[in-house]
Amino acid sequence: MSVPGNSRLTAQDLTLAYEDRTVVDGLDLEIPDGQVTVIVGPNACGKSTLLRALGRLLKPRRGVVLLDGAELARVPRKQIARTVGVLPQSPTPPDGITVADLVARGRQPHQTWWRQWSEDDERATTEALERTATADLAERPVEELSGGQRQRAWIAMALAQDTELLLLDEPTTFLDIAHQVEVLDLIRQLNHERGRTVVAVLHDLNQAARYADHLVAMKAGRIIAQGPPRDVVTAELVQEVFGLASVVVPDPVTGGPLVVPGMAWRPEPKDDPSAEGVSRGPGG
Ligand SMILES: Nc1ncnc2c1ncn2[C@@H]1O[C@H](COP(=O)(O)OP(=O)(O)OP(=O)(O)O)[C@@H](O)[C@H]1O
Ligand SMILES: [Mg+2]
Repeated sequence: MSVPGNSRLTAQDLTLAYEDRTVVDGLDLEIPDGQVTVIVGPNACGKSTLLRALGRLLKPRRGVVLLDGAELARVPRKQIARTVGVLPQSPTPPDGITVADLVARGRQPHQTWWRQWSEDDERATTEALERTATADLAERPVEELSGGQRQRAWIAMALAQDTELLLLDEPTTFLDIAHQVEVLDLIRQLNHERGRTVVAVLHDLNQAARYADHLVAMKAGRIIAQGPPRDVVTAELVQEVFGLASVVVPDPVTGGPLVVPGMAWRPEPKDDPSAEGVSRGPGG
């Protein structure tokens, strides 16, 4: 399973475990540079565990993660933070922190003792607040925000960090459908305009198919398939990875694959055959 082009971030023979529970065993992965990689797979298959290891939040039990050819564990933390931004699945904000201060924290890796806050920091935080539509929330404490507002504040922090690689664990959770599309479009835009390499975990297969250049399907800590969504997303794959019967049809917007899940159970159709699938107004 080779990946075209180059890869600054790779995993080799990666084994990840929590105490005696091995979650990922001997996994190899190359994250294609300048592309959007999306990881999909069932709950508890190891997606977050893998993402955390790629961002050095979790130490491998065996094997290595390489960033620009250097073992991640040996690269100074601050240097990693200037290159790789990580948004974990359920981050906890520091007590009482405001959105503005949270986003400003994204700039810490770029600061030094002799230069605490620069024009670059100012520009990056303002832009991050604007692009995530969180500028209006800047003075509010993060813990008082709604789930979706909070999620956007975290994304703003990751953007402010302004890294060439961005690892996002379920960046669309808690977001309504319009904000989901907004965040995914923003990710695509960052990738397109600035050549950012993005790795995101997503649950929505159809969003994954739309936004990924490179799709990685995982099950039980192993990669089952990877490649362009058109090649990867098939009814067989959905059955194998999720145990779900589905039909894959062309997405009417993109022409790419669109997964339509089957239904194991549904009510008997009504006597009137014209009623099936037709939505009627009140009293109709
Ligand atoms: N801190 C931890 N300590 C012990 N076990 C953990 C820890 N974090 C995760 N696990 C276990 O590792 C396995 C993989 O978890 P992980 O969070 O990577 O799954 P996931 O694919 O991200 O799932 P989801 O889609 O639900 O987010 C699960 O069995 C989980 O219970
Ligand atoms: Mg997860």
